[in-house]
Amino acid sequence: MLSPEMNERLTRVGPGTPCGELMRRYWIPIAPFAQLLENPVRKVRVLGEDLVLYKNKKGGIGLIGDRCLHRLVDLQYGIPDDEGLRCPYHGWLYGETGECKERPMELKPLQALPKKMKAYPVREMGGLVFAYMGPEPVPALPPWDLFVWPNAVRQIGVNVLDCNWLQCQENTGDPTHSVWAHGHLFNYVLERQGDSARTTATDHTVHTRLEWGVGIKELYANTTEHGMEKGIVYSKALGAKADRTRRHSTVIFPFYTQTGSTGAPRSEYQIRVPMDDTHTYHICYQVYAAPPGVEAPKQDVVPWYEPPMKDENGNPVLDYVLAQDAIVWKAQGDIVDRSQELLGRTDLPIVVLRRQLQEQIALVEQGKSPMNFFPQSPGDILYGSGSPPSDWTAPDWATRQIAVSQAFRQNFHKGFSQDDADRYGPAVGLAQELHRRIEEARQAAAQP
Ligand code: FES
Ligand SMILES: [Fe+2]
Repeated sequence: MLSPEMNERLTRVGPGTPCGELMRRYWIPIAPFAQLLENPVRKVRVLGEDLVLYKNKKGGIGLIGDRCLHRLVDLQYGIPDDEGLRCPYHGWLYGETGECKERPMELKPLQALPKKMKAYPVREMGGLVFAYMGPEPVPALPPWDLFVWPNAVRQIGVNVLDCNWLQCQENTGDPTHSVWAHGHLFNYVLERQGDSARTTATDHTVHTRLEWGVGIKELYANTTEHGMEKGIVYSKALGAKADRTRRHSTVIFPFYTQTGSTGAPRSEYQIRVPMDDTHTYHICYQVYAAPPGVEAPKQDVVPWYEPPMKDENGNPVLDYVLAQDAIVWKAQGDIVDRSQELLGRTDLPIVVLRRQLQEQIALVEQGKSPMNFFPQSPGDILYGSGSPPSDWTAPDWATRQIAVSQAFRQNFHKGFSQDDADRYGPAVGLAQELHRRIEEARQAAAQP
């Protein structure tokens, strides 16, 4: 439970708000680069600001305010030029730094304009365009592992969700929701669809998720160098198959969560970008990595897609994981009133996550740098967990990786690719081809 004041503090993201100022210390993913190849000018909304992202005719990318300084025409209808974006009405030309470079209908010499076009730096990494909207000097763009991991197939799913970003991010502090939202709810939806083949198949992921609810002793949540690790401790005495600890996803502060392991045949960042107080740009950044010795199919560009949230009748699609998450986030309200909630034992990681957010907001207020702010390039690949996948430089890593990934690949082919947003992605065929190649390598390695 939070006070109404604290709830405001953690959720509002517009200019000048405490959380908005924190967010402005980070490079923020705002669009798949592939979208600019389809249409070089597009409107985006980030941290309560309406902006226009464009690719000029020479390939440079810019992010500027959405209103022409002349008579406020929306620049999403602008014309890309060699040096920037031209307003469609009278041709004023804006460069990447917001400078108005030409006003073709005005007499020369031109008078200086009394105001400047808003502009933010942008960079491309791993098929995503990132923007930095904070104070200078501009920090380094951190090379988080999944964006730069070599030899992999990728695809990017994007959705605009009608709720505050923190509801989506708190989901990562909630390992047990899988039992219900992706277990019982999933089962109920499949039953209603009359899909008994899927619900009764013992290898359907529903059954795994239902099992995750049995024998929970406690949850744990530990803050780390880059965010948070958390998971569930199971007890045989309470009915679990064994005493064990199951890691949930890794949180990279402030808005990433990583499922799967880096270098695995499937892993994903879910990124919860605050568009404004009541809308979230949700990105599923999906990576299917090949182990060394296996070549991943090549991609010229990382393709994007929009996982559907509604069917042709306007009803929610609920038979895959992301859509199940999205419906419960939105069903909490535009901005959930956390002064009214009643937390239980399974909410421990959420409490840790909120505390971390409060601490980082306070650091920025004190003029200090928050977690994961990098004034200089951190150099090599950055791992959310703080370290590379265990012993991945060992000579036999490839063989072992192929072996441990086998179960996952089988699940993928048996239905995992059907149970999550992946199934709608344009690269899922390539991911399956990659998995075929991995299996071929495994069989070759198994030959005496
Ligand atoms: S309104 Fe943009 S150039 Fe006139
Ligand atoms: Fe979920």
